[in-house]
Amino acid sequence: MKPADKAITLAFTGASGAPYGMRLLECLLAQDYTVYLLISSAARVVLATEHDIKLPSGPDAAHKALVERLKCAPEKLVVCGKEDWFSPVASGSAAPKQMIVCPCSAGSVAAIAHGMSDNLIERAADVVIKEKGQLLLVVRETPFSTIHLENMHKLSQMGVTIMPAAPGFYHQPQSIDDLVDFIVARVLDHMGLEQNLVPRWGYDQR
Ligand SMILES: Cc1cc2nc3c(=O)[nH]c(=O)nc-3n(C[C@H](O)[C@H](O)[C@H](O)COP(=O)(O)O)c2cc1C
Repeated sequence: MKPADKAITLAFTGASGAPYGMRLLECLLAQDYTVYLLISSAARVVLATEHDIKLPSGPDAAHKALVERLKCAPEKLVVCGKEDWFSPVASGSAAPKQMIVCPCSAGSVAAIAHGMSDNLIERAADVVIKEKGQLLLVVRETPFSTIHLENMHKLSQMGVTIMPAAPGFYHQPQSIDDLVDFIVARVLDHMGLEQNLVPRWGYDQR
């Protein structure tokens, strides 16, 4: 089978910020991307805590639940198991060239910075880095320790985009959704994808 032309890898890890990840997933599917979705065990806990989404543990059941919730075409969403080493995202010969980890925990930053490849999220990120693709991490932790900063510095030097989940307030957000959209808009901009979620500085006005 040939890799999908418009495909992207999206990983949810166990940092606070599940609404960013879900909104991003919605936006990518709306742009007709095939999304390879990877969800860590901790991300499931965060999703249940912050977004009231209790995803079943197996990838097939999680796929069914997400397709029902998002009302997307089933074939556009591929939910991968954490040790699904036969997934396209596990190999440079088939993986999408773009990957977003949103939200990204400090633990996943460390694992990715050190090429651990111990689960499919870490392996997929390792593949994107080695294939010189585009990797963007929406990191959330506060404060950052020297360990976190060193790991992010190392990744940044390799061309990985480190985008802290730190929304601005200059667009005068009226709701949590506005804050979420601020970050999702910046992610989409950096990946070169379309978005009109937030007015552009100096162009659009509220
Ligand atoms: C509700 C909740 C919120 C969390 N928030 C953060 C966070 O903002 N940043 C972070 O680095 N870890 C956070 N953690 C801890 C991570 O989930 C934990 O370190 C986990 O091992 C990360 O694993 P993963 O990167 O494989 O998902 C949180 C955990 C829970 C349950």
